[in-house]
Amino acid sequence: MEQWMRSVLLSLAKNRAANRWAKRYGLRLGARRFVAGETIDEAIRAVAQLNRQGMAATLDHLGEFVGDEREARQAADACVTALTAIHQAQVDSTLSVKLTQLGLDIDRELCLENMRRILGHARDLGIRVTIDMEDHPRCQATLDLFDILRAEYDNVGTVIQAYLYRSLDDVLRLAADGVHLRIVKGAYKEPPEVAYPEKADVDANYIKLMEAQLLSPGFTAVATHDERIIEHAKRFIAEHGVARDRYEFQMLYGIRTQLQQQLVREGYPLRLYVPYGNDWYGYFMRRLAERPANVWFVLRGALR
Ligand code: FDA
Repeated sequence: MEQWMRSVLLSLAKNRAANRWAKRYGLRLGARRFVAGETIDEAIRAVAQLNRQGMAATLDHLGEFVGDEREARQAADACVTALTAIHQAQVDSTLSVKLTQLGLDIDRELCLENMRRILGHARDLGIRVTIDMEDHPRCQATLDLFDILRAEYDNVGTVIQAYLYRSLDDVLRLAADGVHLRIVKGAYKEPPEVAYPEKADVDANYIKLMEAQLLSPGFTAVATHDERIIEHAKRFIAEHGVARDRYEFQMLYGIRTQLQQQLVREGYPLRLYVPYGNDWYGYFMRRLAERPANVWFVLRGALR
């Protein structure tokens, strides 16, 4: 049942009509639990509050799968505005971006141009940028652009998904160059030809990727809410003496807040992924799919 519901929710995540409705009507259906607000000012206030609680942030201006050049350029403008706002407010935050928001599906050169604008501004302000990983048909294109950009900018990192069979090879190739990687389980609906269908296999692969990256000269973001993996990471980091400036834990805004506070109390570096903006629908549906029990909270809220 849970597997079926997950699959339905992930299919709905790409529904264009629902996405248009969501943009028009603002944060609804309990999305506020996962999204910091619709404007950059609201997002900066949320980041400042997290900073006061000892957590760093990475801001994400929501949006994906853009098919229009003007919209892709406007998304790049929003990223530049976010970087300036981070700098002006002097908050502890990086930026996360999705390449399909910046034109990957339209024209690779447009996407590169937008990314160079963002990375150049970020470098001037001393801010890091992480390229999120989207669904598997975009994985190779994302890594190709990442390779081009990391040769030009030292403030860019990307994400590797443990559910993809290819990921260990990707980590081993990138690890040798000491890159900045965030390891996640993976949030999209993928076929068994490219991704492990069983959660146990994804979890086991996550551990392999995380260990390989932690032993490399690069930086590792251990991005998960899975307590078993977090405990494993803590032990591994202690046993191998991984320096504090070579790793951090990462979680999503609004998910497992007690676990977040516990990590901070224990003295571990923690960064929260803080999304904002009006294009919240796809992100929100993926959060529901990760834990279908969330759907009942949404329905209860809607009926109240
Ligand atoms: P898992 O799904 O096994 O969850 C472990 C426990 O966490 C659950 O038992 C539950 O208690 C809790 N939990 C997890 N999700 C929850 C939810 N939505 N609501 C309530 N509780 C929940 N993915 C991707 O494909 N590309 C990307 O670029 C990113 N980027 C990214 C950044 C950061 C900072 C994080 C933390 C995650 C991502 N992800 C991502 C999402 C990732 O792939 C994955 O879908 C989620 O993190 C959920 O998986 P967990 O590792 O938490 O494990």
